[in-house]
Amino acid sequence: MQTRTVQTEKDRERAQRFARNRGRVNPAVLRPTRWWLDTLRRRAASMYHEPTDALRQPVVFSSAEEQVACVAFFNAAYRAEESGMTQAHRLADQVRAHDPDLAECLVLYGNEEGWHRELLTEFLPHIGGSVRPMGPVTGTFYRSYDRAEHMESIMLTNLMFETIGATTYRIALGRVQQPAIRAMLAILTRDESFHVPLNVHFVREVLKRDGSLPTQLRLHATYYSVFAALILSSWASRRVAAAFDRISFRELSTAYVENLSRIFAQSPDLSLRPPKALLRLFSIDSAGLCDSKPGSDLLSTSAEAAEAAADRSKVQVTSI
Ligand SMILES: [Fe+2]
Ligand SMILES: [Fe+2]
Repeated sequence: MQTRTVQTEKDRERAQRFARNRGRVNPAVLRPTRWWLDTLRRRAASMYHEPTDALRQPVVFSSAEEQVACVAFFNAAYRAEESGMTQAHRLADQVRAHDPDLAECLVLYGNEEGWHRELLTEFLPHIGGSVRPMGPVTGTFYRSYDRAEHMESIMLTNLMFETIGATTYRIALGRVQQPAIRAMLAILTRDESFHVPLNVHFVREVLKRDGSLPTQLRLHATYYSVFAALILSSWASRRVAAAFDRISFRELSTAYVENLSRIFAQSPDLSLRPPKALLRLFSIDSAGLCDSKPGSDLLSTSAEAAEAAADRSKVQVTSI
């Protein structure tokens, strides 16, 4: 009798999950701009008071090669933060006239990236490096992003950058032992995980204002081209950073494909789906992308994940 009851509950759970996924109502974070603004204001109030002593602990590398790779890793992070801050502030100027609350969200979000950039500006000399000029590949990448004119393309590109940033930091955090470096990665992982659902909201708001066919077509073109560029970037980054983070190309590129697919599977209203051939190539089950599973929660766009990541003091970064 008890076995039957358990079975029935499991059946009910499975049926509910199936219904939710088919109906595509559960995964998307549907919070109004006001909720994001209140949350960002709360985060801003505590951001500059966050203890950062852990970042100043001594760092000893096992080899010169590891140190060079570590400096390259955090230089790439620095450029991503700088670009995120600049684009967010630029977009805020564009939306202010018709949506001042959204503009303030963008300013506060850009300020968080600016804070990360400040932390990295101090951290790079601490690990024996410095902020270096961008190489030709990275430079071309960011210059073309900076030249993008259409708001939806910039927002979508930013969302995809946030997704791969959170992915890379998270995997690296699982490998790295040095306390100071772990502390830096923990801050970045925690905050980028909040920025992912926030950027989904930004993309939605832009589309709410202009959901025309040309905008949709541009969005699809941006999605596929940035998707491809980011997979290639995982190959390029292995040459310079693998000696530090010890992540293989196969592992990183699979994580990128899975998480870039998961974000949009959980936000079906954006109508962006990864190429099926790519999912097959990386042995990713598209049916499971809407499910939350251990290890993916901080890269989820679910309402619960956004709320859990919103309050910095409640995120257990050491256990990521
Ligand atoms: Fe950041
Ligand atoms: Fe971010």
